[in-house]
Amino acid sequence: MSVDISNAILVTGGAGFIGSNFVLQSLAHTGAPLINLDLLTYAGNPENLASLQGDSRYRLVQGDICDSELVASLLREHRPRAVVHFAAESHVDRSIADPRAFIRTNVEGTFNLLQQSRLYWAELDDRSKNAFRFLHVSTDEVYGSLGAEDPAFSETTPYAPNSPYAASKAASDHLARSYFHTWGLPVLTTNCSNNYGPFQFPEKLIPLVILNALERKALPVYGDGMNVRDWLFVEDHCAAIRTVLEHGRIGETYNIGGNSERTNIDVVTTICDLVDEMRPQAASAPRRNLITFVKDRPGHDRRYAIDASKISQELGWKPAEQFEGGLRKTVAWYLANTAWVEGVKTGAYRDWISKNYSERGNI
Ligand code: NAD
Ligand code: DAU
Repeated sequence: MSVDISNAILVTGGAGFIGSNFVLQSLAHTGAPLINLDLLTYAGNPENLASLQGDSRYRLVQGDICDSELVASLLREHRPRAVVHFAAESHVDRSIADPRAFIRTNVEGTFNLLQQSRLYWAELDDRSKNAFRFLHVSTDEVYGSLGAEDPAFSETTPYAPNSPYAASKAASDHLARSYFHTWGLPVLTTNCSNNYGPFQFPEKLIPLVILNALERKALPVYGDGMNVRDWLFVEDHCAAIRTVLEHGRIGETYNIGGNSERTNIDVVTTICDLVDEMRPQAASAPRRNLITFVKDRPGHDRRYAIDASKISQELGWKPAEQFEGGLRKTVAWYLANTAWVEGVKTGAYRDWISKNYSERGNI
């Protein structure tokens, strides 16, 4: 018996930072139903999607991407035209503290999604088979570290992951590739640089520094602060994913980046100046004085940079936001959304901050 697809999309990890921005943007633009499979780990927050309460196009299913029965039953029930796979353990420092969950979710979980998607896809009629897509969301960290003068990462840069997080994402990329080459499952993979913007959990550099600056706490900078990241506003990443989903060539990978390389110390000082401007305190010292250099991350990649010419030339995508404008919007968002901020500073958050920074000394 052959099966027809619906116009629904199954998103995994849609309660996390990028996933929730993607869910909101997709529903605003397309109106197609969206099912969000998310385990709601410490990084998953249904509050990110509170504005969708009562929206019949959206359904949250709390569950594990490693659960094959659950994934199979969601595919059977909703007959999605696409799976967009964000769910992951995503924080490099946590992967150094305890890598096991990264292997389980990022490797086994991606394997399980690919496998269940393949079984579902095999039962589809020919038209639906051609239309179906599995979009795997990945990272530039799989390419390793660049020297100051090296050309940016392209889609043909050899993989050289340096952290357990990057290695687990690299493994998941290879699995995704193998399902296309072996069975013809219509897989697309995106490898993106560092995102920033609303709803990012404040264990990552930019939201952590905004919130610490606001509270006049120490601003921890690893090593010499000269590591470089290529920053992309999260809404631009989501737009790129939507473009690849609709127009990308199956079996291809697309690099996504912001063309905004900045040293960490540059990012941190810019945030200090923005917070000083938006929350001036006449009698207090500039927030730059709070910057504290702490013990470096082991194996800390020195520089990431993305060559996004393939997605730009083939599919016409370009980032809309410049880094300075996006950062200003982001600082303003964290300052305005105090209830959201208080809500995420749970026990799990406090435990992590105390574990990560007490071991680094100086703060
Ligand atoms: P995040 O940590 O904010 O969110 C991850 C989400 O996945 C959370 O909602 C969490 O509850 C969910 N999840 C975790 N384990 C799960 C499981 N076993 N089953 C179901 N759900 C589970 O991550 P993010 O920053 O939004 O990143 C999303 C994706 O984008 C990841 O795959 C990451 O590797 C990739 N990526 C992130 C960035 C970045 O800068 N944040 C850049 C490039 C690529
Ligand atoms: O490049 C894409 C990746 O970007 C994604 O795949 C990851 O999911 C995402 O977490 C991010 O990884 P990074 O390790 O680059 O992000 P993070 O915000 O943890 O760190 C950014 C830089 O800032 C990095 O060089 C480490 C440094 N840093 C980080 C923290 C938390 C500090 O100097 N101090 C800090 O306290």
